Amino acid sequence: MRKDVRILLVGEPKVGKTSLIMSLVSEEFPNVVPYRAEEITIPADVTPERVPTHIVDYSEAEQTDEQLFQEINKVSPCALMLIFTALVPLILVGNKSDLVEHSSMETILPIMNQYSEIETCVECSAKNLKNISELFYYAQKAVLHPTGPLYCPEKKM
Ligand code: GTP
Ligand code: MG
Repeated sequence: MRKDVRILLVGEPKVGKTSLIMSLVSEEFPNVVPYRAEEITIPADVTPERVPTHIVDYSEAEQTDEQLFQEINKVSPCALMLIFTALVPLILVGNKSDLVEHSSMETILPIMNQYSEIETCVECSAKNLKNISELFYYAQKAVLHPTGPLYCPEKKM
C-alpha cells in the first residue's frame, strides 16, 4: 500500500497558489488570502484514489530557498536536489483562465512537451472554480500512477 500523497504548490509569486488551495477547501473564491495557506490533509475516504493527501503551499515572501528545498525533499524523500525535477512527477498548472478569452493551452502545451517530467497540464481558475478539484486529482494520480518516465538520462546534469 502506498503511503500518503504530498502535493506541493510551487510557482512565481501571485500566480494564485494560495487561492487555489482555499478555493478547493471552501468551494468559493477567497477575496483575501494570506501569503501561505496552512498545510491541509484530505482524509483517504474523500479522495478519489482513497489515499490521505497533504496539500502544502509555498510562498517566496514567507519562506527561504532552504525551506523550499526541504519541502521538495519531503515530496520525494530520496531525490537528489540537482535532479529533483526528474524524480518528482510534475503537473503544470495554468491558473486565472477567467482572465483570458481564448485557451491558454497554446502557451502551456509547448512547455509540457519540452519537459518529459511533466505528467500532465491543466488550465484552471481559482476564481470560477474551474478544474480545481480536477487539478488536485490529477496531482494525486500522477503520484500513484505515473505514466511518463520519471528518470530521464539525457537530462541528468
Ligand atoms: P504568493 O503567496 O505571493 O506567492 O502568491 P500566490 O501564488 O499564493 O497567489 P495568491 O493566491 O495570493 O493570489 C494572487 C492574486 O491573484 C490575488 O489577488 C488573487 O485574488 C488573484 N487570483 C488568484 N487566482 C485567481 C484566478 O483564478 N483568477 C483571477 N482573476 N485572479 C486570481
Ligand atoms: Mg501564496
